[in-house]
Amino acid sequence: MRGSRESGCGMRVSNMALKSIQVKTVVYDGQKPGTSGLRKAVKLFQQQHYTENFVQSILNALGSSLVGSTLVVGGDGRYFCKQAVDIIIKIAAANGVSKLLVGQNGILSTPAVSNLIRKYNTIGGIVLTASHNPGGPDNDFGIKFNISSGGPAPESITDNIYELTKSIQSYKIVNDLKCSVSCIGKQTFQIDNGRTFTVQVIDSVEDYVILMKEIFNFEALNNLIKERRFSILINSMHGVTGPYVRKIFVEELGAPENNTINIVPKEDFGGHHPDPNLTYAADLVKAMQTGEYKLGAAFDGDGDRNMILGHKAFFVTPSDSLAVLGAHLECIPYFKYNGVKGFARSMPTAGAIDLVARDKNKEFFEVPTGWKFFGNLMDAGRLSLCGEESFGTGSNHIREKDGIWAVLAWLSVIAHLNQSVEDIVKTHWAKYGRNFFTRYDYENCEAAPCNKMMSELEAKITNPGFIGQEYSTSKGKTYKVKYGDNFEYTDPIDCSITSKQGIRVVFEDGSRLIYRLSGTGSSGATVRLYAESYEKDYNVIYQPAAKVLEPLINIALELSKLPKFTGRNSPTVIT
Ligand code: G1P
Ligand code: ZN
Repeated sequence: MRGSRESGCGMRVSNMALKSIQVKTVVYDGQKPGTSGLRKAVKLFQQQHYTENFVQSILNALGSSLVGSTLVVGGDGRYFCKQAVDIIIKIAAANGVSKLLVGQNGILSTPAVSNLIRKYNTIGGIVLTASHNPGGPDNDFGIKFNISSGGPAPESITDNIYELTKSIQSYKIVNDLKCSVSCIGKQTFQIDNGRTFTVQVIDSVEDYVILMKEIFNFEALNNLIKERRFSILINSMHGVTGPYVRKIFVEELGAPENNTINIVPKEDFGGHHPDPNLTYAADLVKAMQTGEYKLGAAFDGDGDRNMILGHKAFFVTPSDSLAVLGAHLECIPYFKYNGVKGFARSMPTAGAIDLVARDKNKEFFEVPTGWKFFGNLMDAGRLSLCGEESFGTGSNHIREKDGIWAVLAWLSVIAHLNQSVEDIVKTHWAKYGRNFFTRYDYENCEAAPCNKMMSELEAKITNPGFIGQEYSTSKGKTYKVKYGDNFEYTDPIDCSITSKQGIRVVFEDGSRLIYRLSGTGSSGATVRLYAESYEKDYNVIYQPAAKVLEPLINIALELSKLPKFTGRNSPTVIT
């Protein structure tokens, strides 16, 4: 009933018994969840039975725990979210789910879903998003299942869901159930022989704001922004974070309204690619270059990614962002009281956090790409802070990366140190050395030649003769191969093994080249090439990253013959 007075909707009870029916279906190929859920073109989800099949398979994977359970449902508001919410409500009702907690108008950021699952002890949640992929009728949609810890389902579960999609013959649905999710409040329905099914539509923002207030010192942050006039510019890229940003940065922390941009969520993200990087958040970069703002931040479609910029668009790499936060975490009340356990990063992420972990004598973990690999470590109480080079930063407050959390963490560090973003990062480099990092993305390439490139490369770099190979560059530097492999991870908690997680070439001086094929694209292949080089020399650490990494990139292109296989002479995105 919470909030029903403001909305004027109140509680609605339908006494008429609604009948569930079983609908015969056909199997669709390719419903295999990738790095983060099932992501495909909207047009595929719109096919008859396609979405229903996948939703039913998720529920089937829950087995006997499904009956009587509660699930959270919400998404980033992209095109097809509303239809998907309606389908989920009707299928959940037919399958014996007792209650759904649904964000108003189907809107919930991915971090907010994770929080709700944990806070209300639900069996899990269904997140409707294709994250940073563009939205709209001609673009992408996605469905992801999160488990009761609040985190993305591990591979054992997503593999099972995939298996179920391959043999599904029918799904159960209550076609006559009419449920609007535009008003906050409870609606109950009688299904079949008097079973009660409840849909509770909740405020999309409220619980998340409560959580942030528990973690951070809002008074200190308000003082920084309102009293000390630390000017920020926050760009929601027309994704789901808009209402969260308004509530937190404007209403709670006192930022002027025009310090937030693109905060109206749109089904097509205003026609843009809702990915917070230097290419797709170019408008933020441009606005920051004017020098008017001291911190700039952007978020992706579903609010789990973040990009941090300092005065005049000083770019903080996500790997550095993670390390800086790791170095100063205790200034945040949540960590002061709960303590700081270990740190972790995904394999391609630069190793800046490793150095902080060593310095602070904390446990450290290197996991495959994808947030789901952090969950076990957090549940086991061994991990507090983690991140990915792909603009993901987060902590054990939930089980997803969290864009707004990252900005609040940065503001906490700034308020504590009373230094600019750039000074904080440069002081960090001076102490720890700098992990230069860049990532080249070659999007939408033809899949077959990319697969061939990867297999030929793997054969080459795992050949024992590869070790000790030297690559001289025109800059006079020589890189000597220490080893090459395809990254394999053994989870320290459940001992599960995940292999083929990216081809690595590691050189004697610690520099690394990594090649992966994206697992989040909806068609074709996206090649990701990552390069990292560590420098401690004072004369080098303040040089531009592109200059320092150029020789390494040339070696990477030569080694893999990437231009030949992809037919591309330059990447789509460089970060
Ligand atoms: C990408 C990122 C990865 C992130 C995922 C979901 O996956 O590289 O770090 O966890 O998106 O946001 P990829 O497309 O590389 O498989
Ligand atoms: Zn995302």
